[in-house]
Amino acid sequence: MRCKCPLVRMSSLCWFVVLCCFLFISDVSAETCSTSDCHADFQQWKYSHSPVEEEDCSSCHEQIQDQHPLEKGSSFQLVESGSKLCYQCHDAFGRKLTVHSPIHDGDCIDCHNPHGSNVGRFLLLVDHDLTELCTNCHDSELFTNAVIHGPVASGACTQCHDPHESNFPLLLKKTKEKTCISCHVEIGEGMEKSPVVHTAVKDSSCTSCHNPHSSPAAKLLQKDIESLCLDCHGNVGRKAKKAKVKHAALYREEKCSACHATHFSTVPGLLKQSEQDICLTCHGKDDFKKSKPLKNIATEIKDKKVLHGPLQDGECSGCHNPHGSDHTRLLRGAYPKSFYAPYRKGSYNFCLKCHDKNLLRFPETSIYTEFRNGKQNLHHLHVSNKYKGRSCRACHEPHAADLEKLMSEDGTKFGDWNIPLRFIKTDTGGSCSPGCHQSYEYDREEPVDYE
Ligand code: HEC
Ligand code: HEC
Ligand code: HEC
Ligand code: HEC
Ligand code: HEC
Ligand code: HEC
Ligand code: HEC
Ligand code: HEC
Ligand code: HEC
Ligand code: HEC
Ligand code: HEC
Ligand code: HEC
Ligand code: HEC
Repeated sequence: MRCKCPLVRMSSLCWFVVLCCFLFISDVSAETCSTSDCHADFQQWKYSHSPVEEEDCSSCHEQIQDQHPLEKGSSFQLVESGSKLCYQCHDAFGRKLTVHSPIHDGDCIDCHNPHGSNVGRFLLLVDHDLTELCTNCHDSELFTNAVIHGPVASGACTQCHDPHESNFPLLLKKTKEKTCISCHVEIGEGMEKSPVVHTAVKDSSCTSCHNPHSSPAAKLLQKDIESLCLDCHGNVGRKAKKAKVKHAALYREEKCSACHATHFSTVPGLLKQSEQDICLTCHGKDDFKKSKPLKNIATEIKDKKVLHGPLQDGECSGCHNPHGSDHTRLLRGAYPKSFYAPYRKGSYNFCLKCHDKNLLRFPETSIYTEFRNGKQNLHHLHVSNKYKGRSCRACHEPHAADLEKLMSEDGTKFGDWNIPLRFIKTDTGGSCSPGCHQSYEYDREEPVDYE
């Protein structure tokens, strides 16, 4: 701030002129400008501009006509035009990278009343809510969509923007990232501490997904969440759309965020919780879908003695594609839907992705499976039997079982009936008394003679 006294800055000639004016000519400056008759309102500001308060009108106004008041025209003019008037006392703006257009044009009085204000500080014509002021020039639609950001709703534009000038783009007081996490500290901390941070959040700014002011979409998203994610993850969307079996989870209200966190996560795949937990938030309920309920997988695996390999690691997506699949039950490969389904090349690709296909290929083997009587391959007998080959579900549970080798206890559905297996394992073989045939035993070392 420079000295605001106009006298100090005057040449001696001016000094003389002013003095003459003061003593002989003026009938204004002999008194103060604001009396109860003249410019009375200048004494009544709730918040006065300091020079006005001090009755230092001449720091901005100079008399150019002897007569005052005049009937027509003005007996005063401003001592300087535009912002120069203000820069007499205030530091000049214009040194930073972005300068607000009205500042550049010297229009200080578009926002400030040079004399005072009755509503708020900073000589503004508005109180804390700046929206009205700013929308004199800016499109108000930016700030009036259905969902409005907290600080915008209260007109706190200057929490993020400097009204005059800034070294950051768009008059921001900080970088875009720091702007957001200065209030949303939990997100800043999460990004620092979490092992998995969404590349989109790390590498692009928050505003690539959020509108900082207001938005028609929930959570200030730039668009509805699905289109937003698919803008960058088009391949997931295309595959999901093409998939013959769609996963209803993708099409519910939360869309992708039913399973995914959006900013950061403690688990791989940017999931909200561990994979198993996230699947079981829906698939761990009984009344999950009333018309044709899916099994409650939580009860299916709870306290079971044997968990299928991938489930021991809490994995579901090794077997199911969460985004959609061409195969029944979202499986990651072919698996027949029906009870009878003789093995053909490719038809059991799902199981054979992880298990040796030779299990089904040879009528006789001494290495590829334990399910044999001597050398006779009983998997081949049951599954590869051309006429009545049975699918694996006739004997095995997909997720978990109390019996060894995932053998099914309740058996699989055969029409209205669950075929029991009554499997008993021995060291060298086993026995079943299923609903399909009489009781049989098998033994790898001392083959049973079925004749
Ligand atoms: C900081 C500079 C500044 C000071 C100090 C100042 N004025 Fe002004 N004044 C202005 C500016 C700028 C305008 C022009 C406003 C516009 O064009 O809208 C103005 C306009 C006016 C006007 C005409 C328009 C109106 O608002 O009624 C009057 C009268 C006036 N001033 C009186 C005074 C009086 C009396 C004082 C001292 C008590 C004073 N001013 C002090 C800057 C100042
Ligand atoms: C004669 C000197 C002088 C001139 C000319 C002047 N100001 Fe000031 N202004 C001051 C002083 C002194 C303060 C009080 C500073 C403080 O409190 O730190 C002030 C304060 C302000 C404030 C802050 C008010 C508040 O409530 O905190 C604003 C805004 C302001 N001036 C705007 C302007 C504008 C706009 C102009 C030009 C139209 C202008 N000033 C011209 C001397 C001046
Ligand atoms: C677009 C509206 C706008 C314009 C134009 C504008 N200001 Fe301001 N000014 C503000 C707002 C809003 C504040 C209050 C800042 C805050 O809330 O932190 C402010 C605060 C101030 C302050 C006091 C606080 C500070 O930052 O020192 C001064 C002095 C000031 N302005 C001077 C000026 C001058 C001089 C000009 C013209 C060169 C000008 N302003 C033009 C909106 C504006
Ligand atoms: C007197 C008119 C006017 C007022 C009042 C005004 N602005 Fe502006 N503002 C402009 C103009 C003109 C531009 C330049 C627009 C452009 O380049 O498209 C601008 C640009 C901006 C920009 C973008 C800067 C950039 O680099 O593109 C921001 C942010 C902004 N204004 C914020 C505000 C805020 C916040 C307020 C209220 C405190 C406000 N404006 C009040 C006229 C105004
Ligand atoms: C929470 C911080 C924040 C608040 C509060 C805020 N803005 Fe912004 N504003 C931003 C950010 C960030 C951008 C840059 C957006 C982008 O990346 O495109 C921006 C951009 C702008 C722009 C220029 C780009 C555009 O969208 O046209 C204007 C003008 C603007 N803001 C005005 C305002 C006004 C007026 C207010 C108060 C009603 C306000 N802002 C409140 C953060 C904020
Ligand atoms: C000045 C502090 C402040 C800044 C800066 C800020 N926010 Fe906010 N934000 C808030 C407040 C307050 C809320 C409302 C919190 C609530 O209701 O629980 C909020 C809410 C949100 C919401 C949730 C909206 C909803 O409808 O649930 C999102 C998304 C958001 N902010 C994003 C951002 C982004 C992006 C930025 C940076 C451009 C940002 N915020 C900067 C204060 C801030
Ligand atoms: C890839 C897009 C994307 C980016 C980038 C992004 N967000 Fe979000 N954000 C979202 C989505 C989607 C939601 C809604 C999530 C939900 O409902 O589970 C959200 C929600 C929020 C919420 C509201 C949280 C709540 O529980 O209500 C805040 C606050 C937020 N984001 C702030 C930020 C901040 C700050 C940044 C930058 C560091 C950021 N976001 C970057 C997509 C994004
Ligand atoms: C601005 C672009 C962009 C947007 C929008 C976006 N992402 Fe991403 N996302 C990326 C990039 C880049 C990666 C890292 C590269 C990759 O793995 O494909 C990524 C990675 C991911 C990952 C894998 C994380 C991992 O560690 O394996 C998931 C899951 C993900 N995004 C989900 C989402 C969801 C859900 C949304 C919508 C809320 C979304 N993304 C929106 C760009 C984006
Ligand atoms: C039912 C839960 C669920 C939903 C809903 C879901 N995902 Fe995923 N997503 C997962 C799981 C589990 C993984 C990790 C397993 C994997 O790699 O396939 C994953 C992985 C990803 C990956 C990284 C690996 C890849 O396939 O590229 C991206 C990107 C991704 N999802 C995006 C999305 C998008 C976009 C949506 C919304 C259209 C979405 N997800 C909806 C569960 C889900
Ligand atoms: C937000 C809830 C939700 C989450 C989380 C969820 N699902 Fe689903 N899932 C559904 C709904 C709804 C259906 C359709 C139910 C129906 O049609 O009976 C479904 C169907 C399925 C189906 C049967 C598909 C068919 O058409 O036969 C499988 C398999 C499945 N989900 C696996 C998973 C896996 C694995 C996960 C974890 C990666 C998971 N789901 C997470 C809601 C969810
Ligand atoms: C080792 C592979 C595998 C793993 C791991 C796996 N599943 Fe499955 N899942 C299957 C198979 C195979 C079926 C089809 C069973 C059938 O049709 O006989 C199935 C069926 C389902 C069904 C449909 C149930 C019904 O009512 O028919 C759901 C739901 C399901 N799985 C969810 C899950 C969830 C949740 C997880 C993780 C906790 C998971 N699966 C892990 C292989 C697996
Ligand atoms: C994603 C890989 C994967 C898929 C697909 C898969 N399994 Fe498994 N399965 C495993 C793993 C891993 C084990 C544990 C192996 C171990 O413990 O030696 C296992 C174990 C088994 C066992 C018990 C073996 C034992 O020694 O206890 C049976 C039976 C079985 N699977 C049947 C099936 C059937 C039937 C299918 C198809 C419906 C199938 N599996 C699909 C990975 C898979
Ligand atoms: C008729 C009942 C039955 C059918 C159908 C059946 N299995 Fe088995 N499976 C068994 C029995 C019994 C064992 C246990 C053998 C032992 O350890 O004594 C077994 C064991 C296994 C094992 C453990 C490794 C081995 O071979 O000993 C795997 C893997 C396996 N079956 C996969 C499958 C697959 C894949 C299918 C469908 C293509 C299938 N099974 C169909 C009864 C069956």
